[in-house]
Amino acid sequence: MPDEVIRTERLTKVFEKGRRREVVALDQVNLTVQRGEVFGLLGPNGAGKTTLIRILVGLLTPTSGRAFVLGRDVTTDIDYIRQRVALLPQEAGIYERLTARENLIYYGGLYGIPEEELNRRADRLLEMVGLREREDHQVKAFSGGMKRKVLVARALIIEPELVFLDEPTTGVDTLGARVVRNMLKRLSSEENRTIVLTTHDLHEVSELCYRVGILNEGRLVAVGRPDELEEKFRAANLEEVFTSLVTGEGLQ
Ligand SMILES: Nc1ncnc2c1ncn2[C@@H]1O[C@H](COP(=O)(O)OP(=O)(O)OP(=O)(O)O)[C@@H](O)[C@H]1O
Ligand SMILES: [Mg+2]
Repeated sequence: MPDEVIRTERLTKVFEKGRRREVVALDQVNLTVQRGEVFGLLGPNGAGKTTLIRILVGLLTPTSGRAFVLGRDVTTDIDYIRQRVALLPQEAGIYERLTARENLIYYGGLYGIPEEELNRRADRLLEMVGLREREDHQVKAFSGGMKRKVLVARALIIEPELVFLDEPTTGVDTLGARVVRNMLKRLSSEENRTIVLTTHDLHEVSELCYRVGILNEGRLVAVGRPDELEEKFRAANLEEVFTSLVTGEGLQ
């Protein structure tokens, strides 16, 4: 049996909004992700991508259904999961007064990783994101895209088996986004780490993702390799697949 890193079974999340209004952010989602995959989670704004990630790292509890990460139930074994899984949140805070390197070292220290080891990892990660020359500058003087790169590196300092990156390249310029993508490709191919990312950039998906899942209004409406989905939906490219699933255009 292949090594399942994520499994959800009819995973559902309902947010109560006032007395009689509720939002079904996730609606009976069944999803599996295998070890070593780069998996892209796609969907329009409000589709439920961030909600799904937040449940898988224990920041939200499901309303119903089940979710397993590294074979453990997220509602009972979250400490085990958190030691091995990293998250780059969509809206991540950064320590503005620390330097880029200090941000990485501080975060890694919270996981009890020895400083010497952290320094070794930080050297490599800062090199990979192209921030070696600026590593001793306070982050408050960094641009938005540079901060995002520090946060990607920070998520990876714990050498997670699985990493969730919620819009890792949003706000990062074209060259910077390439740097981040190349880094993620290396982590997946050389170290067999599993990467789940969300993005609105379909070019990024075709560059990086082995499989994608498309969420729409909380429902997982398609899962597969981009080329499989193009064939299944008789579309010329992933953008056409996405548009037809989300708008209903071109579907019978
Ligand atoms: N804490 C919350 N309380 C109430 N409703 C929420 C909460 N978090 C998310 N929602 C709602 O759940 C739905 C899914 O939101 P979510 O943030 O998961 O979408 P998303 O796919 O990540 O969108 P985006 O592409 O804009 O980041 C939306 O309708 C949102 O308003
Ligand atoms: Mg989101």
